[in-house]
Amino acid sequence: MKKSIASAPGKLILFGEHAVVYKKPAISIAVDIRAKITITPSKSKTIFACDDLNIKSVMDFEKKEFHMLSGQEGIVEYIFEVLKLKHDYLNPINIDLALDLPIGAGLGSSAAITVALIAALDNYYNKELNLDEIAKTAHNVELNVQGSASPLDTATSAYGGLIFLDENSKVTKLSASFGDIIIGYASQRGNTRQMVAKVKKLKEHYPVLINSLLDAIGNITLQAKEIFDKEKLTKNDFQVIADLLNINQGLLDAIGVNTLELSNMIYTSRKTGAIGSKLTGAGGGGSIIALCPGKRKEVLKELQITENALEANFSKNGVIIHN
Ligand code: MEV
Repeated sequence: MKKSIASAPGKLILFGEHAVVYKKPAISIAVDIRAKITITPSKSKTIFACDDLNIKSVMDFEKKEFHMLSGQEGIVEYIFEVLKLKHDYLNPINIDLALDLPIGAGLGSSAAITVALIAALDNYYNKELNLDEIAKTAHNVELNVQGSASPLDTATSAYGGLIFLDENSKVTKLSASFGDIIIGYASQRGNTRQMVAKVKKLKEHYPVLINSLLDAIGNITLQAKEIFDKEKLTKNDFQVIADLLNINQGLLDAIGVNTLELSNMIYTSRKTGAIGSKLTGAGGGGSIIALCPGKRKEVLKELQITENALEANFSKNGVIIHN
């Protein structure tokens, strides 16, 4: 039986969230926590299933809609949108998703699922894998489903590694590798739309102040990029990146997207050995990242006493075909 399997990594924003909405640069990193899609032929209808999330859905291409048999429809919108662009409609398929990434934690789960499905379909139809094309299609899918989206998540999932988005939304893969990271994720999910609106409002009330904070975040990103342009980072480089993470966190707090739960995780991680930590993504809930060379186990253990936390390895690879 024909089978196609592809997986794509999640992402963390290291520098520049929120400022990126106002055309400042940003840097994100791929982490080896993946969304894995398996495609096999189906006898009757095209069916999407994810056992991890208890989701099952049937696609009805004639009526241009999908029907939920179980679970929430959130991620199925992305699946259906990819199928509208990429599926040949003639031969029904089973699409199975295995997901290691927590949903709604700011770790790019929708981008990873979208990228993995596009690659799995291209492979299923024996098409050459073209990363630029996959990244572009995945970004279009996110735009169609969400209304707005920066290309950062989908590019990071497709290419892997460290990704720099410049002020004209041009994507570049940086050469450096990155170190050991702990991710802590709050029980409260972040709501990106609400958080972006909150910053917008504050900016309208205090334009001079907030603009200077957003400029400062942009400058942090540019300083980090200079370091990540190197092939290999020294201990001192990691210390500079850690300092920049901590400064960026202070600015995110100042623009109003921090929460007590995130703060607790950030200070717990620093107390236990993280040299740099900040919230990542939209804030208001969601996740933090902690850079903790040599202290990963300790930080993980301490965070897990009160919160959800997991280890994340840097993923040099983006989307991968497994067969
Ligand atoms: C959310 O992950 C990152 C934000 O900058 C929003 C965006 O870039 O679309 C807050």
